[in-house]
Amino acid sequence: MTRAHAAELDRGDALAGFRDRFEHGDGDRIYVDGNSLGRLSHDARAAVAATVDEWGGRLVTGWHDWVDLAGRTGDALGAAALGAAPGQALACDSTTVNLYKLAGAALAARDGAIVVPADDFPTDRYVLEGLAAAHGRELRLVAGDPVAPLGVDAVAAAADGAALVVLSHVNYRSGALADMAAITRAVRSAGSLVLWDLCHSAGAVAVDLDVAGADLAVGCTYKYLNAGPGSPAFLYVAQRHQAALRSPIQGWFSQADQFAMGPRYEPAAGIGRFLAGTPPVIGLAAVMAGAGMLAEAGIGAVRAKAAGLTALAVDLHDERLAGLGFTLGTPRAAADRGAHVSLRHPDAWRICRALIEHANVIPDFRRPDSIRLGLPPLYTRYVDVWDAVDRLAALVADGVHERMPEHAARVT
Ligand SMILES: Cc1ncc(COP(=O)(O)O)c(C=O)c1O
Repeated sequence: MTRAHAAELDRGDALAGFRDRFEHGDGDRIYVDGNSLGRLSHDARAAVAATVDEWGGRLVTGWHDWVDLAGRTGDALGAAALGAAPGQALACDSTTVNLYKLAGAALAARDGAIVVPADDFPTDRYVLEGLAAAHGRELRLVAGDPVAPLGVDAVAAAADGAALVVLSHVNYRSGALADMAAITRAVRSAGSLVLWDLCHSAGAVAVDLDVAGADLAVGCTYKYLNAGPGSPAFLYVAQRHQAALRSPIQGWFSQADQFAMGPRYEPAAGIGRFLAGTPPVIGLAAVMAGAGMLAEAGIGAVRAKAAGLTALAVDLHDERLAGLGFTLGTPRAAADRGAHVSLRHPDAWRICRALIEHANVIPDFRRPDSIRLGLPPLYTRYVDVWDAVDRLAALVADGVHERMPEHAARVT
């Protein structure tokens, strides 16, 4: 496996032209952490700047256009990234808050336990732990394999008698991709609602919420949708559930007749009942830009390139890293993984720090032993994968990481 082979793959890349539409400006730094925070695109910068100008020029009259921006942006995300017909998605709040709203709505409507994988992302487990206590429900933690995708049978067994099952489509640590359609079918036939966390799949893999028959979903836009740090998240509620579910946050933006300023709360008829307060207009401009670029590229092409980039990383792991104490923390079949690859090593923390400080490669570390290489297809080249692994292999072979202090930092 040579660098020339990677360069050859870049020459055949149908999405290669998208790379120049992002800001790089970082010398020979190799950025493989777009699964934490995506790069800044020229489109996002221009959209934010235009919205700031609009604020300056229009002041409060801008609200005539901004007032329904959460729904319009949700529809754009629905079409580009979620496989959701209009009227079922909103871009609003954070993933954490959206999870609280939708899980809270599901629990208010249904009796039974809450199910979540024991190794799911912390915010999901913590929010559900709090809701379980508040609603007096059992919280069932499903044990999973650290590498393999969620098993349909294990989830179906845990779903028996549950009100709600919350699952990540792509696991944040391993990158394993769950079979959304099969699991949704199994959970629904067990009589529960399923809520998908799409943080690591929206903009990285094809998501077909409507076709899968999903009930609920949430996710963020700062990873593969490149909308910037803390950008508004999204939520999805299938049309068939909207009338029966009520958000536990009864904010004025979800009121049936918001500007009547009436005495009592009455939820809006459609998806708008899952809003809370005033939408973050400047942040939504960047989300709209991210949805637009994804629509242009097409999720099919993005998915195909993610499979190619991660396959190269897996091959390079086998050839260059396996002999240095690494094991692969991601499924080997491209159909079973998203757009990041997890490399496990007993000294992963120090290797990750050494990569950042001495090799100008930016991945991230996830406890206990994973270095994640995030490979967003719109701006990652095959040579970036090759260079990142080449620098990683050289650094570990030279023992550079052994000279790194064994201390904890708050973020990687
Ligand atoms: C799977 C998953 N869910 C939720 C979150 C975070 O949610 P929030 O944007 O509310 O911090 C993340 C963040 O990386 C995540 O990976």
